[in-house]
Amino acid sequence: SKRFNSWKCKRIMSSIIEFAKKTLINNRRSNYTLPTNTKLYPAQWNWDSAFIALGYSNFNLDYSFKEIETLISGQWDDGMIPHILFHIKDLNYTPNYKAWNCGRKISSSGITQPPILASILRIIIERKKFSKEEIKKYQTLILKIKKYLEWFIRYRDPKRTGLISILHPWESGYDNSPLWDKPMSKIKIESKLKYKRKDNKIVEKSQRPLKIDYDRYVTIKNHLRRLNYDPKKLYYKSKFNVVDVGFNSLFLKALKDLDFLLKFIGKSSSSLKKYILLNESKLIKLFNSKKMKFKNKDLKNDTSIEIPSITNFFMLFSDLKNKSVNKNLIKSLKKYCKNENYLFPSINSRHKSFEEKRYWRGPVWINCNWIIYQGLKNKDKSFAEMIRKKTINLVEKKKFREYYSCKSGLGMGAKNFSWSAALYLDFVLNRS
Ligand code: GLC
Repeated sequence: SKRFNSWKCKRIMSSIIEFAKKTLINNRRSNYTLPTNTKLYPAQWNWDSAFIALGYSNFNLDYSFKEIETLISGQWDDGMIPHILFHIKDLNYTPNYKAWNCGRKISSSGITQPPILASILRIIIERKKFSKEEIKKYQTLILKIKKYLEWFIRYRDPKRTGLISILHPWESGYDNSPLWDKPMSKIKIESKLKYKRKDNKIVEKSQRPLKIDYDRYVTIKNHLRRLNYDPKKLYYKSKFNVVDVGFNSLFLKALKDLDFLLKFIGKSSSSLKKYILLNESKLIKLFNSKKMKFKNKDLKNDTSIEIPSITNFFMLFSDLKNKSVNKNLIKSLKKYCKNENYLFPSINSRHKSFEEKRYWRGPVWINCNWIIYQGLKNKDKSFAEMIRKKTINLVEKKKFREYYSCKSGLGMGAKNFSWSAALYLDFVLNRS
């Protein structure tokens, strides 16, 4: 019967693998993929697309590169790759392309998202064991990513402090995280705001950001628009300017992965290498190993933010050279999730800001699990493997939802969520 059970298990798994592929294909439009097939997100999103491209690489490399190329085709002249590309002029999303009023050939938002794309591209290229000649075929792509990452250094750290800023909570990708509560509380809501939300009609209201959050998101956005999204001005003038540990961790890893790729096309850059060292030394200082606490910096209000968020542990993904910092990060991460049924809550469930069902204020997100897993697998194999298995089990039980409760495993938000399907595939098909 043991043999029968393992046969049954394998069959279930292979049917879910097929379902994951189908989910991605169904969400696919011409050369890019929507985050879900519901009306919630009718456009192309920056980091979603990177995760989706990784998912495709497990069964259709052509789709994978099409996804990446379409995302990069929205790059601005200054180098930024926007957080949303509106390929179709759909008015069903708020704020829609008219409300942003920017982009060049392709309408877009005027802000960006975590540049995980560089790291995803490296993983694909390494896994497929591309030869130097094959990598050269992607030279243009790699150079555009270089321009993107250099944009961050130039415009998001104009004083070369070694840490880059985000200028809107949406840039982090974890929109209504308690990390932003303090800086957001300082933002005076514009009078006579006019916008109509649709998200909370599609998904249960109690699982989405509050009205006051949206009022502030739109207020910040309108202000950026009034500044014509001029990157030289935004850093100094935005109503929101935060150095986030998670974002800087993803950025540092992106720089390292870009540096790796540049070698193959003979375009190594010494100024990039220098920034990597600076960024790493400054990032480490945001983690207090003794107290096991992280510090985000609210530059706008000259104060710090200390919230136990899973995104702080993205530092593990950066592959820091300092072994004792890594050891302490792992120790704190184990403490962070001890007693939890499902990993990882986006906010420590013992913290006062934790909300079991509200979006980025507590629920489990598959992309966070994947990022942490990637960071752990070369540092603590058994812990990493435990996360891989738990994530696979949760997704197999509840399918490809947008997020899940860490208490009950309840699946929430959108159904047929692309990155949950893509990263499930990646977890199942790439055991390291
Ligand atoms: C939400 C999420 C963001 C994601 C987007 C599309 O805005 O917070 O991380 O990229 O939806 O899925």
